[in-house]
Amino acid sequence: MRKMRTQSAPWRAAAVLASVLLVGGVAACGNSDTGGGGTKDDGKITMGFSQVGAESGWRTANTISIKEAATAAGIELKFDDAQQKQENQIKAIRNYIQQKVDVIAFSPVVESGWDTVLKEAKDAKIPVILTDRSVDSADKTLYKTFLGSDFVKEGKLAGEWLVEQKKTASGPVNIVELQGSTGAAPANDRKKGFAEAIAANPNLKVIASQTGDFTRAGGKQVMEQFLKANPKIDVLFAHNDDMGLGALEAITAAGKVPGKDITIITIDAVKDGMQALADGKFNFIAECSPLLGPQLMDLAKKVKAGEEVPARIETEETTFTTAQAKEALPNRKY
Ligand code: AHR
Repeated sequence: MRKMRTQSAPWRAAAVLASVLLVGGVAACGNSDTGGGGTKDDGKITMGFSQVGAESGWRTANTISIKEAATAAGIELKFDDAQQKQENQIKAIRNYIQQKVDVIAFSPVVESGWDTVLKEAKDAKIPVILTDRSVDSADKTLYKTFLGSDFVKEGKLAGEWLVEQKKTASGPVNIVELQGSTGAAPANDRKKGFAEAIAANPNLKVIASQTGDFTRAGGKQVMEQFLKANPKIDVLFAHNDDMGLGALEAITAAGKVPGKDITIITIDAVKDGMQALADGKFNFIAECSPLLGPQLMDLAKKVKAGEEVPARIETEETTFTTAQAKEALPNRKY
């Protein structure tokens, strides 16, 4: 008390200003829709990120991109590997809510079943960014934006290439399909896009379609079954490079020449896939870029600052033939 009474006028003014700023700051955090938890306002951003797993070369490149971009952007990253399990992702998101991170970002392993946990994040005023894969929630206010590829388009590009290649085919062209993880957006959408495109030619028929879980081991195992059950396979459409690479082993072991006896189309364009394409073992790849880190960190900063961001940001992608893969390989980053 005595100290208070002996304060000089400038000190009193400074104290009043400090308390006004403090109250204002707390109020601003409390009202903020985007401030994230509202515990600190030191300008530093903490992001909680839940990754699908480490199932493919694509995923490894995506994880590296996110970690490197966070460091470069000065964002503190809390990273969790869900090992391909939705329950692990939900647990990680709940932890991030408890820790009051500023932003939560995640790549949903499957499309459905996210409404409850996303609502919890929204109630805690922690903005959520979806990256790589989206969710099927009807309430679009549960997340700020979705940054990632158009998976339907990727499937379509794969199918359209095949339609062009087989336009002179006079008889049935038997296709087998290695699907990604069941319920995952890229598996659902690539299947859909491919089916829509090949509908242009009734000779093109998918005779078997099964999940290989986006892994090399899965691709190899399911391709072995396809080869045993189907004496005539003309085309393999694999939802990612890794499953295609696993299938190469099964095809070779069955005494067939990949890329010649069986036309192989995949998606991703990671280095190993591009090498297989350059070597003529694959025939076509539709690209899916994993380098989402820098854009994600940029979005996190904007969202934290309360800036409007587009609801959907689509990744720019291309396609590769053997000649194009040979040209692109030396400069391929992942
Ligand atoms: O969600 C992107 C997909 O997930 C990639 O195509 C695949 O390789 C990965 O596992």
